[in-house]
Amino acid sequence: MEMKKPLLEMNNISKSFPGVKALQNVNLKAYGGEVLALLGENGAGKSTLMKILSGVYRKDEGKIRIDGEEVEICGIKEAEKLGVSIIHQELSLLPNLTIYENIFLGNEEYNGFLRKVNKKSMKEKSEKLLDSIGFSIKADTLVEDLNVGEMQMVEIIKAISKHSKIIIMDEPTTALTDVETVKLFEVIRKLKSEGIAIIYISHRMDEIFQICDKVNVLRDGKYIGDAKVSEVSKDDLISMMVGRKLEEQFPYREEEKGKVLLKVSNLNFKDKVKDVSFEVRSGEILGIAGLMGSGRTETAKTVFGEYKKTSGEICIDGKKVKINSPKDAIKSGIAYLSEDRKKEGLILNMSVANNMSLCNLNKYENSIKKIDKKLETEEVKKFIEKLSVKTPSHKQLIKNLSGGNQQKVIIAKWVMISPKILIIDEPTRGIDVGAKKEIYEVLNELKKMGKAIIMISSDMPEILGISDRILVMSEGKVSGELLRNEATQENIMKYAVNMQN
Ligand SMILES: Nc1ncnc2c1ncn2[C@@H]1O[C@H](COP(=O)(O)OP(=O)(O)OP(=O)(O)O)[C@@H](O)[C@H]1O
Ligand SMILES: [Mg+2]
Repeated sequence: MEMKKPLLEMNNISKSFPGVKALQNVNLKAYGGEVLALLGENGAGKSTLMKILSGVYRKDEGKIRIDGEEVEICGIKEAEKLGVSIIHQELSLLPNLTIYENIFLGNEEYNGFLRKVNKKSMKEKSEKLLDSIGFSIKADTLVEDLNVGEMQMVEIIKAISKHSKIIIMDEPTTALTDVETVKLFEVIRKLKSEGIAIIYISHRMDEIFQICDKVNVLRDGKYIGDAKVSEVSKDDLISMMVGRKLEEQFPYREEEKGKVLLKVSNLNFKDKVKDVSFEVRSGEILGIAGLMGSGRTETAKTVFGEYKKTSGEICIDGKKVKINSPKDAIKSGIAYLSEDRKKEGLILNMSVANNMSLCNLNKYENSIKKIDKKLETEEVKKFIEKLSVKTPSHKQLIKNLSGGNQQKVIIAKWVMISPKILIIDEPTRGIDVGAKKEIYEVLNELKKMGKAIIMISSDMPEILGISDRILVMSEGKVSGELLRNEATQENIMKYAVNMQN
């Protein structure tokens, strides 16, 4: 039997940033017609390695071979010429251009003689590509009019349009609905059958087993090993990633439940939230399950005053409150951590510490109204440790942190204002398995302190593992409510698709 030759080999790759050894002697092999999962905790070096391959960063050391030939990748254009394209973790489309302009950005087609941009041809080609992956949308739609999932699809088409041999997908599904994810997987299978090598980064373990053939694991910038997916278990992968066995991934703690802290009655917002009523007690985690688009986030945003309710009543601590803006909500003791954390006020050119304490500066004011820097720093350091934020120091600029670690900072920011009621939307999206558990511990601790927590999540094991009670939403309405001990994946799904027997 002839051994298949790798399409891509990366050997002994090293890369440092000031104060950070992001990669040390890392190896990776990818084969045509296969999907390789690149796994590791937040900050392990996955994006950095892929940015080196796609010409965004230069490696300090190491060798890269494509098709057996050693290559020096000095820039993005060069990587593209070598057949490498990447779909970045952060979306990188230009919102005020159309879909086809984005797809052909930098590779515009011109009419032979007059060198005029050939819009017609680019539009037609884009439409064909859109069609080929079953994405029915006009190619001259402006990108700013798309939702995040659709933007992600455009990024994918952009990569396909370049006829790449190697396509890198850095957390492609974090913003996709279940249906879109299924579509993406179909596209991946098609690319595979065409002999393309795909490198796939995701923190969702289920996806690894669904779509990947092999895994390559990094930990703390070092190469740990590779394996065939068919020969490893989920637990094996977790131990390779975090370097230890992770017992009970969902630490649940029963607490004494206190008085009702939040009572929402007949809440309506346009046709998105319909007559929603529920209550949450002190010491309780209420999970809200449902499919994407079921009105969960809209409910949260209406309670938080980001959307102006059409009707309904909100009571906090037994008192009716008027919430017309997030500011009112925060004053009444509600914090809302949105699912859209990229947009959610990280100030990229500020330090980790300043980003964390942004919302609650007055907490650190001393008697003469000066910010107590020492107190602030202590608290910040405590949370960096508690959530294992991977950063060389609290003074590091937030833009230099890995995607997942930026998210942990936002979580810390809201938890630090110590609200009575915390609404947290998709708390662990894009967060690694080890850190997920740390976030659950933080939620448990808040619960113990007598806070009321609402956790919106599409992650079924998380909903089942952490909630005391589960509300299921469908089409803007509450379609079911289950106690912890009666909830199962099946009965939640039934309510979610509104098919109670
Ligand atoms: N431009 C930069 N300047 C300084 N440090 C950086 C820079 N880019 C990345 N790092 C650091 O390098 C390390 C690896 O980051 P990287 O983004 O590759 O992690 P990752 O594995 O992709 O994590 P995640 O799962 O959170 O996306 C991190 O410690 C990060 O803070
Ligand atoms: Mg990353």
